[in-house]
Formats: sequence, structure tokens, C-alpha cells
Amino acid sequence: MKALVWHGKEDIRCDTVTDPEIQDPRDAIIKVTSCAICGSDLHLFHNFIPGMLPGDIMGHETMGEVVEVGSGVDGKLKKGDRIVVPFTIICGECDQCKRGNFSVCETTNRKRHLADKAFGHATAGLFGYTHLTGGYPGGQAEYLRVPYADATHIKVPAGIPDEQLLFLSDIFPTGWQAAAQCDIEPTDTVAIWGCGPVGQMAIRSAILLGANQVIAIDCLPERLSMAEAGGATVINFETESVVERLQELTDGRGPEKCIDCVGMESHVMPSLPDTLLDRAKQMVMVESDRPHVLREMIYVCRPGGIISVPGVYSGLSDMLPMGAFMNKGLTMRTGQTHVNRWTDDLLRRIEEGEIDPSFVITHTVPLEQGPEMYQVFRDKRDSCVKVVLKP
Ligand SMILES: NC(=O)c1ccc[n+]([C@@H]2O[C@H](COP(=O)([O-])OP(=O)(O)OC[C@H]3O[C@@H](n4cnc5c(N)ncnc54)[C@H](O)[C@@H]3O)[C@@H](O)[C@H]2O)c1
Ligand SMILES: [Zn+2]
Ligand SMILES: [Zn+2]
Repeated sequence: MKALVWHGKEDIRCDTVTDPEIQDPRDAIIKVTSCAICGSDLHLFHNFIPGMLPGDIMGHETMGEVVEVGSGVDGKLKKGDRIVVPFTIICGECDQCKRGNFSVCETTNRKRHLADKAFGHATAGLFGYTHLTGGYPGGQAEYLRVPYADATHIKVPAGIPDEQLLFLSDIFPTGWQAAAQCDIEPTDTVAIWGCGPVGQMAIRSAILLGANQVIAIDCLPERLSMAEAGGATVINFETESVVERLQELTDGRGPEKCIDCVGMESHVMPSLPDTLLDRAKQMVMVESDRPHVLREMIYVCRPGGIISVPGVYSGLSDMLPMGAFMNKGLTMRTGQTHVNRWTDDLLRRIEEGEIDPSFVITHTVPLEQGPEMYQVFRDKRDSCVKVVLKP
């Protein structure tokens, strides 16, 4: 089959690889009908997250049709079912899965010794996302083996196009969880850094969850326009002071809730000297992340407020203002998304027409054009916000 394969830094190719097969009774195989490129894939493209090996298949936002099921799937799935695949592989049975903490499932990371060393404790297996999370082949491919398929799936009905359902795999629940863990109250201002696909979903989610005011921050005009269309007031960090504007828009109190939809690769700009220092430290490998947004959020957040971090960080972040964080009594909530915790509710909202997540798609191309689309998405060329690939 054809698949997008990681060969090294900024080197992803569409290769012919061996078709996946059932390896365990709980596996299923799907024929992929749609898949997408995520901002998290860019961290791998740049080789900023350790644990990728040449030959690894990329992709963790995937849906398709079940074409084969193992004997242990136990009637939960059958041939012909249409499923969205959550990016977190879950067993459904362990203590964490029972609590709904699916992204830290205790069973599915088959290379847990690596993650135990790096993080203290292993987290769940993820598709197409480094050997720290199990080294599972991803879904930017014609076929995907879904391990623990009896639990790791979201069944979706016929009659709704792929484009509306695909993002249940990741970015829609990710934006939703980011907003939900802010405990939004009707008087709250929610400030959201980053208007990429995750930021866009967080904006819509914060509004659906009843925020009084949503403020979105980025520097790309087309992404800021999309944020405005979703109901946000926008700040362009290249032309305005983020801190001053946020103070103005909140009568000097600061936003009660702050969401980081940027993560470890914050823009590097001479007007933000800390980003230059982070970049230099990254190059000599004494710091892994560029946490400018975390610093800014801690500084500007209203005392007693909540900082929600769906943006991905990989390792060590320097110069976090712990003094401000502690003395202001802030709370930070983070995590890879517990996808299946949210998807019943979100699927219902899509079915009832409350939200159509396909608004974020700007490019739909054949899988073979994937390598080129990694560049376009990374460089934000051609007003690219979200790429869907069709195998
Ligand atoms: N927690 C999860 O489960 C989960 C799931 C999906 C994605 N993510 C992460 O979410 C983040 C965003 O993903 P995406 O797909 O939207 O990526 P993206 O790269 O398309 O978007 C990031 C946006 O941040 C903007 N940005 C950069 N520096 C900024 C700054 N200083 N202030 C404000 N905006 C800034 C960029 O211009 C860009 O529009 C990534 O780190 C990704 O890994 C996490
Ligand atoms: Zn993702
Ligand atoms: Zn589990």
C-alpha cells in the first residue's frame, strides 16, 4: 500500500510499504477514506520530539471502513462499519481508561520502558507518533491496523460526509477539552494563543461552552479572519502588544482563562528576545521547547485563573515564571486529549448541526501529494489551515 513515511528531519515520502495485517485478536484493519495532517505532525517533521525512526508511518487523524476484524474484537466492530480512529490507542479496561483518562491508558504503550525513562511513567500508545508512545504505524496511508480495536474506535453513521466527522479523531475533542478544562463561567474572558486548527476548535468550543468574550491571538491574517468569523476578537502579535491589548480588553484585570494552542514551536521574532534565546538553546540542545506562550499566559492571566495547555511540549522549558504562577494562584491543566471522553457528545452536536468542524479545511488532495503538503502546511503557504488527504 501507499503511506507517508518519515525518513528524517523534513523528509517525509510517499512510499510503497507492506499492507498491515491482523497481529492480535483485538486488532481490526480499516481501509482509510480520509486522513489529515496535524500541527503535532510538524513537531515530528522538524524532528523536535525524540523517538522517530526512519521507516515510521505518519498520521493520527484517520477514518475509514473496517475491512477485517480479529477474533477478539468481540462483536464490537464488524466488516463494513464506518469508524473514526481516535489518535489515542485505548484498552478500555485499565484503571485510567475506567476514569476516562484515555491518553494515559496504562496498557497500550508497547514500548513503555522508553516512556517510563523519559516521563517517569508511560502514557498511552498513539498512532504515528514516535517510539515513546509505542511506535505504532500511523494512518496517513491506504490501510491502518487498529490495535485494541474493540475500544479504540468511534462508530459514525452513514450520511454525514467524512469532512464533518474526521476531526473527532483529534482536533475537535482537543479544542473542546482545552476549553472544558477551563471551567468556563458566563462572565469569563477566554484568551486563546494560536489560531491553527486546534486554536480554531478551541475558539468555537469556548463560545459553545458560554464564554462572555473570546480573544484569539496569531499573526496570520487568514487564520485571524477565521477566528473572527467564529466569534473571537483578535490580536495580531506581530503588530500589537499582546499583553497591552489583553489588559485593555479586560479592564486591566487580565483574562480569567488562557489556552495555549501553540506549543513548543512558538514563533521566533527579534521583538520577542526570549524566543531568540530559546531558539539558540534548542540548537545546542540545552532546551527542548520554546515556551514563550506559557510565559506570556502566566504573566497576563488574571489571579486565580486557569491556564489550559493542549499545545504539545516535548521536554524541558526554561525560564518559566514560577514566582508569578505561584503568587497569582494559577492552575495549569494539560494533556494529550482523552478523545473518547468527549466524542459521544461531540458527534451528537455534529449530527444536530450545532457545529460543522469542516470549516477549517482549506486543502483536500490525494495522499501522494502529502509530502508537499507538509511543507505548505508548515510554511502556512497558500492560506493553508488544514489539509485532508485522500488515499
Ligand atoms: N493535546 C493534544 O492532544 C493535541 C492534539 C492536537 C494538536 N496538539 C498541539 O496543538 C498545537 C497546535 O496545533 P495546530 O494543528 O493548530 O498547529 P499549527 O502549527 O497549525 O498552529 C499553531 C499556530 O500558532 C501560531 N503561533 C506561533 N507562535 C505564536 C505566538 N507566540 N502567539 C500566538 N500564536 C502563535 C502560528 O502562527 C500558528 O497559526 C501543536 O503544538 C500541536 O502539537 C495537541
Ligand atoms: Zn494531532
Ligand atoms: Zn487503558
